[in-house]
Amino acid sequence: MSKIPAHIIDEIMQTARIEEVIGEYVNLKRAGSNLKGLSPFTDEKTPSFVVSPGKQIFKCFSSSKGGSVVTFLMEKEHFSYPEALRWLADKYGIPIPEDKPATAEELAAISERESLHIINEFAKDHFMKNLHESEEGIAVGMSYFEERGFRPEIIKQFQLGYCLNTGDDFTKNALEKGYKLEYLEKVGLVKTREARHFDFFRGRVMFPIHSVTGRVLGFGGRTLFTDKKVAKYFNSPESIIYNKSEILYGLYYSKGDIIKYDNCFLCEGYTDVISMFQAGIKNVVSSSGTSLTKDQIKLIRRYTQNITILFDGDAAGIKASFRGIDLILEEGMNVKVVLFPEGEDPDSYSKRVSSAELENYIEQHTQDFISFKADILLKDGEEDPLKRAELIREIVHSVSLIPDQITRTVYLQKIASSFNISEQILNNELTKLRKNTLSRQLNEPEIRDIPIAPIPVVEQQTASTAPSYSPSEFGLIRILMKYGDREIVPDKNQEDFKLSVSEMICQELLNDDLGFVHPLYNKIFALVLEGLENKTLYNSSFYLRNEDQNIVRLISDIESSDQEVSHKWLNDFNILIRSEEDRLETSVLHSIYSFKASKIEERIEDIRKILSSDEIEHEQMNDLLSQQILYERAKISIAEKLGRIILK
Ligand code: CTP
Ligand code: MN
Repeated sequence: MSKIPAHIIDEIMQTARIEEVIGEYVNLKRAGSNLKGLSPFTDEKTPSFVVSPGKQIFKCFSSSKGGSVVTFLMEKEHFSYPEALRWLADKYGIPIPEDKPATAEELAAISERESLHIINEFAKDHFMKNLHESEEGIAVGMSYFEERGFRPEIIKQFQLGYCLNTGDDFTKNALEKGYKLEYLEKVGLVKTREARHFDFFRGRVMFPIHSVTGRVLGFGGRTLFTDKKVAKYFNSPESIIYNKSEILYGLYYSKGDIIKYDNCFLCEGYTDVISMFQAGIKNVVSSSGTSLTKDQIKLIRRYTQNITILFDGDAAGIKASFRGIDLILEEGMNVKVVLFPEGEDPDSYSKRVSSAELENYIEQHTQDFISFKADILLKDGEEDPLKRAELIREIVHSVSLIPDQITRTVYLQKIASSFNISEQILNNELTKLRKNTLSRQLNEPEIRDIPIAPIPVVEQQTASTAPSYSPSEFGLIRILMKYGDREIVPDKNQEDFKLSVSEMICQELLNDDLGFVHPLYNKIFALVLEGLENKTLYNSSFYLRNEDQNIVRLISDIESSDQEVSHKWLNDFNILIRSEEDRLETSVLHSIYSFKASKIEERIEDIRKILSSDEIEHEQMNDLLSQQILYERAKISIAEKLGRIILK
């Protein structure tokens, strides 16, 4: 694939809305001029993830990640830089002119991840075409869906398809297209036996499984036979793009309604999700037959704190489901339960009754987990005191997993009153269980909650990127990046002598043969110098487009914690500035001199160290001493200059 031309990158960056893209992953709520939500990168329970629509940046205070919409996609989807840009171009309908249909060689060059995505996309389209256009697809696949009562719009919306039963129809088409056999096998669409390649899903109706952004990650394929000897579903194998425990079927379609209704219905199967949707209940996902995982729960928590589990009316799996309930509680979320009538699942029930009746049933039969557990466990032996005690202990155990104390207390009160038992006794039991829970949780290497309070930029930099770092380096690079294209009058006595901030800073540093120690800052400095050679001045939006995401992250750090910084500025340096922008000259000069002062300080310190070592020769000593005097003088002169700026 060809390189994306710069003007197209510009167009993509100007068109893409960071709040829209991130909104696909995180439930963002307005907070002043920003949007706030739970970090998609950590396990936090109080929101410290901030998106600025105005500045088009995000900042995650719990993981200290930050940057542009491109950074976000690179972090979250593990895209490369061009992959992220192409994804955005695709989303916003921006054509990339040089893009020809990929040839076989070009295809080979695309990263493996991207190749697997492209193959799944191709497969989805191919299976849809089969279903809607081929004779066999219509006669077999489509009539199966019709028989099950799936309406045409819903079949289209969920991108259902059909894999022909001929044996290698898909395989042939995909190989002709130039897709690598190796990749086709990796996503599990093609199987090879005795040097023969054939379609893994042949003769099955196909359910594509989407990521939250709508990319096809894998498939479930249902057989049309009732023969118990063949597995009802075949599923795509795990691959670098498909991790079952982190995916929920239907979430791509349902996340909007999950946010809207602040609740997520969780059911077991593909068909349950589709049928609920068809009946108008659209805040629904399915764990697709696997037992619920922590990662899946966290995925839901991005959108809501509330889960309602919908259980089939066959009791077999219900006791096993207790683990799922406990996991949800442990994540600090609220869990409710609906049990469907004997022999029914959401799919069958919703087909049998009207939408209103379905809604009504759900409303009437929603239970909290306490009464649900009690109902199930008490079914046999209601009067047996031992059983009763066991049951109460079992329920208190679930409560003990809830992280929030107030919530725990509320539930205990409820148990106390429904079982007519003293709260004190329950509380004793809870305290015992709590100790176990805590010691277990502490032994898990899990990320603990991190306070919301923004981490000041300076500390963050020290911790992450800086091998040898000084605040004055940051101060100067910050001014350079933020105001590089602005003009200033460096000398008030020469009103008509104007200079750009970039020129001013570069001149000052080059004159004194100074540079940045921090490699990232050094890289930016080199960029600015290069720009000056080409008569170009850079500003924030230039850096925000850069391929090096460390640069993007830095500018986003600068922009997002500006308030903290200017606050720090005032305290640390005691400059009385109305606002940095109003008195840009002052700020620029101040940063330059602070930078120089700290460089001089470093050299003086170096000299001191050498002088105090034993192995120093006489001649060298003289040399160093005179250097030291020069530096001390420079130090005084810089201090004077700094003093003058401050007084201005
Ligand atoms: N499942 C699976 N492999 C199987 C059986 C089930 O992966 N052999 C998963 C599928 O994701 C399925 C879910 O478990 O959707 C629930 O199973 P089940 O209730 O048996 O299937 P339904 O989705 O209800 O399918 P149908 O309504 O067609 O029977
Ligand atoms: Mn079913």
